[in-house]
Amino acid sequence: MSSSAKIPGKPASKTTGLHIGEIRPGVSKVDPIVTIDGVSRRFGGLTAVDVEHLEIPRGAITALIGPNGAGKTTLFNLLTGFDKPDTGSWSFAGKSLAGIPAFKVAQMGQVRTFQLTKALSLLTVLENMKLGAKDQRGEKLLYSLFSFLWKVKEVEIEAKAMELLKRFKLDAKKDDFAASLSGGQRKLLEMARALMTDPVLVMLDEPMAGVNPALTQSLLEHVLGLKEQGMTVLFVEHDMHMVRHIADWVIVMAEGRVVAEGPAEEVMKNPAVIDAYLGSHQDTDLGTITGRITLPKGKK
Ligand SMILES: Nc1ncnc2c1ncn2[C@@H]1O[C@H](COP(=O)(O)OP(=O)(O)OP(=O)(O)O)[C@@H](O)[C@H]1O
Ligand SMILES: [Mg+2]
Repeated sequence: MSSSAKIPGKPASKTTGLHIGEIRPGVSKVDPIVTIDGVSRRFGGLTAVDVEHLEIPRGAITALIGPNGAGKTTLFNLLTGFDKPDTGSWSFAGKSLAGIPAFKVAQMGQVRTFQLTKALSLLTVLENMKLGAKDQRGEKLLYSLFSFLWKVKEVEIEAKAMELLKRFKLDAKKDDFAASLSGGQRKLLEMARALMTDPVLVMLDEPMAGVNPALTQSLLEHVLGLKEQGMTVLFVEHDMHMVRHIADWVIVMAEGRVVAEGPAEEVMKNPAVIDAYLGSHQDTDLGTITGRITLPKGKK
């Protein structure tokens, strides 16, 4: 990965030309990896998600933004099989995902991390990584019949886990309990663990939330690195600096619906977006919600 050679604060070149025709909510993409049609989810009388049509561009970094309660996490849950919608259909890499359980969705190459990290605190860092490995389920019986095969597989899994831990600078902590990691290190562990399955699409739910500023730049670089390696990234984030800095495309949700989408610079100027945010961030302008990320000169 070449991201270490990047000048801090200098954005990687943005991927453009992602959409077809006039930009509006639900606009078609040149090469969509996820396509959503009529997906809705209600909790009692509340409609948490009501997405008419949405396409996520392949090979790019897309940010999903919107005020608290907009339905971002619920949409993530639906897309990854952690929850079931009341209506609608959606596909990943051309395959319909309706009714496919979460572990199968992950095996198909679509992985996600959680807003509240799910690292298992009583397991070590390395054990957490191994749990993320592919083929944990179906192949167990086969391997138990040929125990030497299982050992070969174990060695492979461990080597891969260690390589990823090195990349995320967590290798020195491999035998520590996940409980002893800082919030930011847990986020890194969760991202590293997601990569154990060689995913095609990585979905990150608030990767920056609760992360110490010292780790912010590193997390950013890792997200940019995923795209450099050919993965598609969809992330939920309230930190507008991060969004401006790394997102090729931005989708805005409010009250369950997609209210705007487009390149970051244009979306942030959109009155519908400003309205959606003013509900929850009364006294902040869209560029300075946290101010943790250094922008290049002249970009303030
Ligand atoms: N399991 C549930 N049962 C009942 N209501 C729920 C459930 N999950 C989510 N909701 C409601 O659905 C709406 C959307 O919630 P969701 O967590 O998807 O929002 P979000 O955009 O991720 O918000 P945040 O930015 O705060 O994480 C909220 O009003 C929430 O209270
Ligand atoms: Mg959420």
